[in-house]
Amino acid sequence: MSYREAVLQGTPEEFYPEVWAHGGEIFDPELGVHLLGSYNKAREALGGKGYLADASIIPWWLNSQTEDGQKNPAIAVNPEVFDALGPFFGYPGAIVSQDGSKHRQLRTHVSSAIHKVGQDTETIDRIIETRLLKLDEMARPVGSVALDGVGPQVVDLQAAFIRPAALDLLAHRLGLPDDMKAEVHASTEAQAQFTWPHTPPPYEDQPGMARDLVGMLEYCKELVATYNGMSDEQLPKDITGHLVRAGREGHMQEHEVVANLFGLVHAGYITSAGTITRLTDALLRSGRWSALDPDSPIFAQQVEDGMNEYTSVHGWMRRKGGPDGPHAIVLIEAANQAPDRQEGKPLTFSPLGPHRCLGEADAINTGIAMIGGLRRALGDIRPYGNPERTTDLAFREQSDLTVALVR
Ligand code: HEM
Repeated sequence: MSYREAVLQGTPEEFYPEVWAHGGEIFDPELGVHLLGSYNKAREALGGKGYLADASIIPWWLNSQTEDGQKNPAIAVNPEVFDALGPFFGYPGAIVSQDGSKHRQLRTHVSSAIHKVGQDTETIDRIIETRLLKLDEMARPVGSVALDGVGPQVVDLQAAFIRPAALDLLAHRLGLPDDMKAEVHASTEAQAQFTWPHTPPPYEDQPGMARDLVGMLEYCKELVATYNGMSDEQLPKDITGHLVRAGREGHMQEHEVVANLFGLVHAGYITSAGTITRLTDALLRSGRWSALDPDSPIFAQQVEDGMNEYTSVHGWMRRKGGPDGPHAIVLIEAANQAPDRQEGKPLTFSPLGPHRCLGEADAINTGIAMIGGLRRALGDIRPYGNPERTTDLAFREQSDLTVALVR
């Protein structure tokens, strides 16, 4: 089975033994991409040895190559895509796509903006509490008579709580206005479908998808322009405010402020929501949910370990050899299950290396607050039905997290 086939059926793990049997690296001719699935190869690539960051907004299929470096003839690219992306092509200025000293310099300022906003756990708790209170309104009956042992009401925790709460938190930290916030989910989905699909999008749909994606960039430009119209004293103390201030102090150019805001809109939302959904689902289905105690001293560590194991980001792109080299996908889960993995040192959801996730602490605190909040508010809940599990080359998702409320 090829990697693409395994991804198509939602079970990339079926491919992992194949990559291990080939020394941890296989060139996939269908994708035109090197697949790195051993622990050591994954660490090398993420650590920058012989690999560079990918300008991650650039879809792999735009530059897909054959093993001898020729353009992949099996993939037809509509030239209007390049017009639609315009100067955005290449994602200039966002740290996720930079390397070397430029990356280090910009990362210092993006990191400082995130850390200045810090871990305001009181606000996290308030936002989560507000969303939890709405859960009851969203519950729907599944029959007039209670089923044996199962409550008569069900609710989709992903749609009714985890995603909206993650979005509220993101909007609060970045200072996103309501109209922009409403677009984040669609833009995130558009990015995934455009950039990471297992199959290139249909030729005629490609330019429209590119335009959808660039739409969020326009929102980011407008927000930065609004902040630019404020005095230093008026600038809000959110991440956008700190990025704009770094721009005023000459540490970042305006397009870098916009590109990093755009990066944070996408980096911080569906990654957290998807990981927390997958972990909650696993806790419920394995029967570990009822034993979970949010007041126990080991609870925070349990959530952190679980988020590493059930990360929604299972693959990450790199360029092999140089900025125009072929794409390589680091298979994070495969590396963590590989025979050469070092005992006790798994790759975390934010793998080590120069691009280590800057939102790690935020994401873990959010997971602790959300899962703890759900456990306290709903007590015993049970999985209801079987969600569809989907995956592309980067993210694993499930259609819903429907649970029956047992009261
Ligand atoms: C469970 C949730 C999350 C997961 C699974 C995740 C995953 C990742 C991964 C795999 C990378 C590395 C990309 C690479 O190697 O090229 C990364 C980088 C990054 N993440 Fe996260 N992330 C999460 C949450 C967040 C949050 C909440 C934020 C913002 C507050 C954030 C901001 C970033 C940034 C800015 C980078 C780029 C770092 C750089 O290139 O130097 N992430 N994340």
